[in-house]
Amino acid sequence: MPFTYPDDSTRTTLLRAAESHGLPLYAYDMATIRSQHQRFVRAFNTPKLRIHYAMKALSNFTILQHMRKLGLRIDAVSIGEVLKARAAGFPPDEILFTPSGVSPDEYERAIRERVRINIDNLDALEYFGVHHPNIPVGIRINPHVMGGGHSKISVGHIDSKFGISIHQLPLVRRLVQSLHMRIAGIHMHTGSDILDTQVFLRASDILFDVARQFEDLQYLDFGSGFKVAYHPNDIETDIEELGRHFTDKFEAFCSSYGKELELIFEPGKFLVSQAGYFLVRVNWIKQTTSTRFALIDSGFNHFIRPMFYGAHHEIVNLTNPDGKPRVYTVAGYICETDTFAVNRLLPEVRPGDILCFLNAGAYGYVMASQYNTRPRPAEVLIDRDEISLINPAESWEELWQREMQAHVNSS
Ligand code: LLP
Repeated sequence: MPFTYPDDSTRTTLLRAAESHGLPLYAYDMATIRSQHQRFVRAFNTPKLRIHYAMKALSNFTILQHMRKLGLRIDAVSIGEVLKARAAGFPPDEILFTPSGVSPDEYERAIRERVRINIDNLDALEYFGVHHPNIPVGIRINPHVMGGGHSKISVGHIDSKFGISIHQLPLVRRLVQSLHMRIAGIHMHTGSDILDTQVFLRASDILFDVARQFEDLQYLDFGSGFKVAYHPNDIETDIEELGRHFTDKFEAFCSSYGKELELIFEPGKFLVSQAGYFLVRVNWIKQTTSTRFALIDSGFNHFIRPMFYGAHHEIVNLTNPDGKPRVYTVAGYICETDTFAVNRLLPEVRPGDILCFLNAGAYGYVMASQYNTRPRPAEVLIDRDEISLINPAESWEELWQREMQAHVNSS
């Protein structure tokens, strides 16, 4: 969806949430998730479509339950995610495990959990062929296409650790034939924040070429990386246009392949980014020689995207929306540089005001830590005007209880 600022009713609801559950606070709007899901289904209009939600983006248990009710499946990258998805009621065959660099033990655990597995490393493929030749697996290829976005999240290029290079396919085929393996699917993921649908289509053509070399596939998995809009002039992946071109290509491939394959996508950001708000309180306004800081009661321990990727997140002053515009650098309380925004024009910010970061649904809470010995904040879900607490804030005591117990046990 195009970038939008929260309307008056959303602002009121967010303030109500802050009042009931305290700050800082993550809030998610279920209506946005539902409408993004609808858009995705309409864009890739085919009964073969299987949307595996990339739960790494936002893995709250209640959110997972809602995703399941919407008919989504799961893309998991760790056994932790697999077990959480199982606990949230997803059946094993609806969970696709696409890890990178995990141990043989983790693969063994995934086998015991009976989930579907995509392999992204030749040695791991050989391991499967030697130990589990009868378990069908998918192969994650690296198409060597430079996706858009920040270099940390562009993963399809030649120097990336992800996937098996398309130049190594002869070796893949050799392993598959000599170990009598069954290849069930071909997977790719070229990175997050893809700006250009042509990049995606080019990488898809490469995947189709690879797929032709394997008989008896069940699925083709095109990963994700759909860009969302972070500010009013920002572009998003034109999912409708992509869907139109892509679905035709996919149908044509299936008829030349002679089999109806499942079409898998793994969106994370697309479904949840714009649904999320991160609310914080302003502690101080600090004027230095060069800069006017708005210092907030949070830091990169709670929301790291601005610092880690240089990501731009719009900020709304919820409690002084009509204040006169002034320039602020917004920074946190961590004892390191934790700048959320530089020279941002905001309605006058006063100590005590509540600021709201937009697009905080994806890779917000899940990337939070306890750095500086600070608890992670609460999460709430807004659904049809109702606000429910879906994860309470950690308490101070929780931060050291287990260590203290271990110390007591060991002394
Ligand atoms: N599938 C695979 C194999 C992935 O590695 C990812 C993301 C996704 C799907 C979902 O991609 P999405 O739809 O969310 O773009 N923390 C970064 C993004 C890292 C993405 C890692 N993999 C950020 O905050 O931008």
